[in-house]
Amino acid sequence: MIQTQLIFCGDNLAKLREIPDESIDLIYIDPPFNSNRNYEVFWGDAKEKRSFDDRFGAVEHYIFWMRPRVSELYRVLKKTGSFYYHCDWHADGYVRVLLDQVFGADRFNTHVVWKRTSSHNDAKRGFGNLSDSIYFYTKGDNHVFNVCYQEYTQEYIESNFKYCDPDGRRYSSDNLRSPNPRPNLTYDYKGFKPHPNGWTISLEKMKEWDSQGRIIFPATPDGRIRVKKYLDEMSGIPVGNVWTDIQQLSSQSAERLGYPTQKPLALLDRIIKASSNPGDVVLDAFCGCGTTLHAAQNLGRRWIGIDVSPTSCRVMAKRLEDHCFIKEGKDFWVRDLPKTVPELRKYPAFEFENWAVNALNTVIANGQAIANRAKVGDMGIDGRIYPVDTHKEKAQGQDLFGEMDRWFPVQVKQQTREGGKVGRPDIDNFQTAMKRQRRDKGFFVAFDYSSDALREVARAAREESLEIIPITVQEILDEEVHYRI
Ligand SMILES: C[S@@+](CC[C@H](N)C(=O)[O-])C[C@H]1O[C@@H](n2cnc3c(N)ncnc32)[C@H](O)[C@@H]1O
Repeated sequence: MIQTQLIFCGDNLAKLREIPDESIDLIYIDPPFNSNRNYEVFWGDAKEKRSFDDRFGAVEHYIFWMRPRVSELYRVLKKTGSFYYHCDWHADGYVRVLLDQVFGADRFNTHVVWKRTSSHNDAKRGFGNLSDSIYFYTKGDNHVFNVCYQEYTQEYIESNFKYCDPDGRRYSSDNLRSPNPRPNLTYDYKGFKPHPNGWTISLEKMKEWDSQGRIIFPATPDGRIRVKKYLDEMSGIPVGNVWTDIQQLSSQSAERLGYPTQKPLALLDRIIKASSNPGDVVLDAFCGCGTTLHAAQNLGRRWIGIDVSPTSCRVMAKRLEDHCFIKEGKDFWVRDLPKTVPELRKYPAFEFENWAVNALNTVIANGQAIANRAKVGDMGIDGRIYPVDTHKEKAQGQDLFGEMDRWFPVQVKQQTREGGKVGRPDIDNFQTAMKRQRRDKGFFVAFDYSSDALREVARAAREESLEIIPITVQEILDEEVHYRI
């Protein structure tokens, strides 16, 4: 059985590969959009203020980046499973095409339009963008779907439930006429004739309802009997694809944690109730502050969450403890969360390299860092950063980004000779690797740098126009976005 109640910290592309085929019942994702907006995130503590950047410059790049992730999500989804992709106007048309390609156009189920706000200041030269799109796809023919109901509006109640019993109980008056001829349900009741098709109910039921005061007798002998339909016995209106009844979180919302893209619990509640049953496994691979996990836990579902940001993972864990009253290490587990510099020093070398390159994404505003797949023969380079504003050039399928020539090398150093600090020889080696690849800018990640090493960095910039950016592990752990390529 698949292990659940797990939060994975890391790039979902790598983490999804640890999840077996066809093991998930429901997937919801809300990836960062192609919006170019910079968010200032406040976690309630000034020290944890960081800039959160939607890093994808071009829609094409965003889709290119999402495609392998969506394919992995498709792989882990059960044949009976459902998939929801939440996005906004920036890329929604492209996302729909991507999903048609991965799932098959015939697996498209619903385009949910979530009206998240009612006023927008972008309405001056066009109509305001008030809604998000949530695309719902299934993998096979036989998916779980539980119809959800929405409360009646006051307007609907007043026009449809016009009558009241003396005790104030509201009802509508419904006919009892069978839509098709039913000779066995054709009988007179207390001298009143049925419609030529007959009644919808048996004589027994008619008597039972009569004894309960539910039958409405007509004023004239040739009128028809009707029945009371009580408002308090109705489920509500079946929810359609336009959702206007769930409000975006405001600064006043009690559930607000300070995460800028946090979605309302009610939204995830609806999706999870509709497309899963208790005990099913729910996955969110772009978890943010854990709204999906919170809702899934409340509804008795099993769950798995993934997020690349260690801060997000810490916030989720705290949220589950504070709001769902479950304990980390006993009821749920957080995996691969690098917490401190000493812990990272003890990581196996390759894992450290992978962590460092992927984690670089939390501090670089406009690049996407990717670890080298081959760990041998890497010619002194552990990863590459690609600019996000570049359109894909001649993709030959060599790696995730094809043959793009605009990239910046990354060197990671965990073990060093000079008392834990990167020394001048390490910088020299990186310079050689950069020159071999004809790169004039590169990024170095290490725990610390000797003053000799930093002098060499300055010299290389001055005399050779080689720009080496030395980044410390602590800076990455602080998640301050302050580098650009
Ligand atoms: C829009 S937010 C999700 C918000 C979430 N729905 C909520 O209610 O809190 C997107 C999240 O995706 C995460 N993310 C971005 N790239 C990722 C990756 N490659 N793997 C995993 N998570 C990633 C970001 O760190 C961010 O927390």
